[in-house]
Amino acid sequence: MLDDVVKRSIPFPKDSKILIFGGGFTGQHIAEIARSLGAEVLCSRRNLESKGADFEYDSNKKFIKSKKILNGVTHVISCIPPLPNGEDPVLINLGKEFLEMSLKWVGYLSTTGVYGDCQGNWVSENDTPRPKQLRSIRRLACEQAWEDTGLPIQILRLPGIYGPGRSTLDAYKKKSIKAVDKAGQVFSRIHIDDIAGAIIHLINLYAQGKCPKIINLADNLPASNLEVMEYAANLLGTELPLIEPFEIASQEMSPMALSFWLENRKISNKILCKSMGYSLIHPDYKSGLKDCLLKTTEQKTKYSN
Ligand SMILES: NC(=O)c1ccc[n+]([C@@H]2O[C@H](COP(=O)([O-])OP(=O)(O)OC[C@H]3O[C@@H](n4cnc5c(N)ncnc54)[C@H](OP(=O)(O)O)[C@@H]3O)[C@@H](O)[C@H]2O)c1
Repeated sequence: MLDDVVKRSIPFPKDSKILIFGGGFTGQHIAEIARSLGAEVLCSRRNLESKGADFEYDSNKKFIKSKKILNGVTHVISCIPPLPNGEDPVLINLGKEFLEMSLKWVGYLSTTGVYGDCQGNWVSENDTPRPKQLRSIRRLACEQAWEDTGLPIQILRLPGIYGPGRSTLDAYKKKSIKAVDKAGQVFSRIHIDDIAGAIIHLINLYAQGKCPKIINLADNLPASNLEVMEYAANLLGTELPLIEPFEIASQEMSPMALSFWLENRKISNKILCKSMGYSLIHPDYKSGLKDCLLKTTEQKTKYSN
């Protein structure tokens, strides 16, 4: 809940200016909360006409129209996925400029896909990433590129992101839901309130010298898709669709969807919640989905064009 995140967070110091590259679903939410905490925030989209676009940034165009926006920037957050050639879409054009700025904190939103398949076991930041999917191999390359800059970087590894307007509840409403049963398969998740809340918490700790390089942002309860769907169906007062075994459902999955089902892991949040003392707003999908139900109507289409 936006108000909850704002109430529990320490305001940004005066003159904080945050640039968010990739003002999509997560970027816009972080922006909204950071603004409520007193920071000046500018979000990029590839098209200035898109909702929530404060400036245009498209890595293919190789420049941002006015470099004036870089003046006085204290924090940078990148929410843009890797380019097909594995390069980072922000660093390729602005890496040098960042080095000349007095940045206090840089956050790179990565994915837990970099861990590869863990056969359903818990995995933490101390485990060596073993990405198998091409997109995760590219992601790890981008993490490395950000680390190599020497900027005050934190890499935030995210599992499935959900929130109002993008959750299992919406999949029911769009009738795009499939109930697939694969024994032992679980997925980890994180609600966008906790992405924003954790980032603000980490920025504060970074300023106090607590600065681990890599942090998983995940809730406490990895769960199967069927459990989540069943809970969402109850919230909506609807029925779970017919359950299909994975062996059959997989024949009609896109290669992208299939790739998610071929990896199984539980993401540990101990560094975030124990070492860094972050308290989750939505510790599990039940709390998160209840929040989505409350907010979906008003936020569903807010930034979806
Ligand atoms: N969705 C998930 O479940 C999930 C899970 C783990 C990690 N992640 C990663 O976490 C980050 C945020 O996720 P999200 O779901 O909030 O993403 P999103 O809504 O898809 O937003 C991605 C943003 O990146 C921008 N973008 C994409 N390619 C670009 C390019 N070549 N040049 C400039 N901008 C570009 C998009 O621009 P436009 O606004 O113009 O479209 C958009 O603002 C992403 O890196 C994503 O891969 C996502």
